[in-house]
Amino acid sequence: MKKTKNGSIRLGNRFLMFIAILQIGLIPPFLKASDLPTITNLRTEYKTNPVGIDVKLPRLSWEIVSDQRNFIQKAYQIRISDSKKDLLRGKNLLWDTGKITSEQSNQVVYNGAALKSRQRVYWQVKIWGKDGSASQWSKSAFWEMGLLNQKDWQASWIEPQLNGDTAIPNPSPILRTEFEIKKSVKSARAYVTSHGLYEFHINGNKISDQLFTPGWTSYKKRLQYQTYNITHNIQSGINAIGVILGNGWYKGPLTWDQRKNNYGDKLGLLLQIDIEYYDGTSEIINSDSKWKSSTGPIRMSDIYDGEIYDARLEQDGWDKPGYNDKSWNNTAEKDYGKEVLIASEGPAVRVTESLKPIKKLKAPNGNLIFDLGQNMVGWIQIKLRGSAGEKITLKHAEILDKDGNIYTENLRGAQQKVEYTFRGRGEGKDEEVFEPHFSFQGFRYVAVSDYPGEISLDNITGKVIHSDMTPAGNFECSDSLVNQLQKNIQWGLRGNFLDVPTDCPQRDERLGWTGDAQTFAPTACFNMDVASFYTKWMKDFIADQYPDGRIPHVIPDILGINNAGAAGWADAAVIVPWTVYQNYGDTRILEHQYESMKGWINYLKLITGDSYIWNKGAGFGDWLAFATTNSDYPGATTDKDLIGTAFFYHSTSLLQKIALILGKEQDAKEYAELMKNIKNAFQKEFITQTGRLASNTQTAYVLALSFDLVPENLKVNAAKRLADDVMKFEHITTGFLGTQSICKVLTDNGYPDLAFMLLFRKQYPSWLYPVTRGATTIWERWDGIKPDGTFQDKGMNSFNHYAYGAVGKWLYGSVAGIDLDPADPGYKNIIINPHTAKELKYAKAEYHSIYGEISSSWKMENALFTLDVQVPANTTADVFVPAVLKEDIYESGKQIDKLKEIRFVNSIDGKAVLHIGSGKYHFEIKK
Ligand code: BGC
Repeated sequence: MKKTKNGSIRLGNRFLMFIAILQIGLIPPFLKASDLPTITNLRTEYKTNPVGIDVKLPRLSWEIVSDQRNFIQKAYQIRISDSKKDLLRGKNLLWDTGKITSEQSNQVVYNGAALKSRQRVYWQVKIWGKDGSASQWSKSAFWEMGLLNQKDWQASWIEPQLNGDTAIPNPSPILRTEFEIKKSVKSARAYVTSHGLYEFHINGNKISDQLFTPGWTSYKKRLQYQTYNITHNIQSGINAIGVILGNGWYKGPLTWDQRKNNYGDKLGLLLQIDIEYYDGTSEIINSDSKWKSSTGPIRMSDIYDGEIYDARLEQDGWDKPGYNDKSWNNTAEKDYGKEVLIASEGPAVRVTESLKPIKKLKAPNGNLIFDLGQNMVGWIQIKLRGSAGEKITLKHAEILDKDGNIYTENLRGAQQKVEYTFRGRGEGKDEEVFEPHFSFQGFRYVAVSDYPGEISLDNITGKVIHSDMTPAGNFECSDSLVNQLQKNIQWGLRGNFLDVPTDCPQRDERLGWTGDAQTFAPTACFNMDVASFYTKWMKDFIADQYPDGRIPHVIPDILGINNAGAAGWADAAVIVPWTVYQNYGDTRILEHQYESMKGWINYLKLITGDSYIWNKGAGFGDWLAFATTNSDYPGATTDKDLIGTAFFYHSTSLLQKIALILGKEQDAKEYAELMKNIKNAFQKEFITQTGRLASNTQTAYVLALSFDLVPENLKVNAAKRLADDVMKFEHITTGFLGTQSICKVLTDNGYPDLAFMLLFRKQYPSWLYPVTRGATTIWERWDGIKPDGTFQDKGMNSFNHYAYGAVGKWLYGSVAGIDLDPADPGYKNIIINPHTAKELKYAKAEYHSIYGEISSSWKMENALFTLDVQVPANTTADVFVPAVLKEDIYESGKQIDKLKEIRFVNSIDGKAVLHIGSGKYHFEIKK
């Protein structure tokens, strides 16, 4: 029996339907089934049906969909089998949990027999609700293991032998071999990795849409391989494998010094194809010295510089059987070992969208320019005709200068230039379609030169490329400029999540800057499912951490030992795993990173000694905070010792919580003690008795208040000082470290109107100033384009840098009002606490949590406040509505007093707190 009001109404309707159906003599099969919860989105290690994972005890998750309010899972049962047929019949199970009484519906750790290399298992789940209902068995899902042991690798590393080609700069090698299939193939897998990047072909076809494989990791310690199901790509008889190699992060120039050969000076390939035949036998095809090598049409392809491609040098059929490779060079087998090989972990990089240019322009300098309408990351696909030897050159830029020419000085050493020489297909009458291979560009404008013919908008397409994460959320409100800000945040995320989280995607940097990443991480979580992306990246923290505990400024670390250990940057070692834990309830990342976090805190303990004050060069400070040229006010510079000590405390306090979560009581005690000491030292050194901070800047107050460093009795004073400063300047003065939380701190300390003032400000400096200047991404600097129209210093002026977009967390969390409950991670309990503003008629956000869809949407119309809330099954929420009296609160037309499923908890600061279960709710406040 359904107990809820809604449930009984529904039963009533069903009863009438039942009678009606009986009268016509039919029993509908859906009658009962529609009452039951259903199960969707079965995932393994955050992925749908992953192939080639090497997590030995994978974690499983599912979502529950139920029409019933207050649905909480009471128990679950998982079963797993080698065969899908057996699974569905419930026979020959490898693992059957039986009915487990538990609310857990994600992060459930596989606990069956040890999994073997290449093993594929199918699984399904069934759940029971606390309301007495039960689901059917879910549809089945699967995962497949990769190669778990070094001895599974029989292939040899091979390197192309291309001595003849050294005259030409950086041509990309091509490699090939053939093999014969004589029996009927049941399944075939290819395991592939490279030194450098690779593109993998079989029988004339590119095997996957994954780009920039094998991804970027700390290659000397961790090198990913990808697994491809190629069962349907191979044929009986002769097959050909072709591979193109590119310099990529391994060998190509990186950093402003254009350092080459960061991991090695030779490109190489490791490839193994494991084939199972229907007759029960198997065979392995390996990369070995029988492979041949040559160069092809890619004469140069580098991450920063673009690509030079001469289509006249294409070797037709090179990747197909029967190609005559007699004139090709040999390859050499190398013994690089297999110790560093790991399965690919993050989401694959792919083309996720195609953009058509919105305009064709003639620049004053004569350039033909196409405007994509969006600062994007990826490349241009051209579709054009040309005679053999004719050329087209593409130069990419984020912005036009004030005359209307492309502005490329901010790219510094990165060329971002693509040159294509036509092959002259069909005597120049056939269209040639080209996209670069191992380079990406950050751009909105592409200047086209050297091409003799006409080019229309149809000949040019922008291919948007990034780690292909599932979109998780959106924010929208009644202010179109703020909506553009939200779009810019999302585009900043897309442009800077290309296998590692980068600072920027265009100039000669594009590195995994840790500070930018940690400050943006909570906002990233709202917008995309970033769990596996960060899980993979964090492992490189462990790989690259220095023995003394310092964390490099960039991960993977290519800057070296003198570039490590900065406050707010190195702290990413603790903050990012904590963020993943909070957002996804993931304790494994905490376990995995624990020693690394400890190492960082131990280092800080050592350098701060008995003083607990970090005064030995804390790093970059509040990077790019508001600055002026006034002699009496140079800008909002926050003391680096203060910042360093604040982050020392913050990371220690997170680690203390983490120690408790992991059951490490002794560590937790030690960190609690350390926290006390740092806090005392901080308060003595940086806070006066009236709540003034040693640096009277917004960032100083934001850090001290949000990290809980201000004594209880001075919090009001400190918050007032922050508010006074905001009112005095009427604008934000924070840099990379203070920006994330300024609006949140103002909102939580009684100054939401000031937070909104900062949000809606349109003049420099503000979030909307770039929007009024036509920005389609977040700028690195508050004044990338200065109010007088000139550009900031070309040495550091990216127009696609996500750090200031960290305010996105507040848009979701406090404006639309979907937030985490720190006490109940992974959104098991949700805080819905929207904040209205006189400037807004409505605001809303959706976020797809690990439990399912959450939404919060408020409107203010003629002083009537309405709030629509969706809470996923198996979760609860605390909803804050602007009412003091219970009687003023209505849900779907009824006073909440009359609804048992809504519990009035208390009222805080003029808001009523209601505890609700899953379902959809429509609240109105009537006065
Ligand atoms: C990067 C940043 C980074 C910073 C460190 C810059 O060059 O672009 O975003 O965090 O250096 O100060």
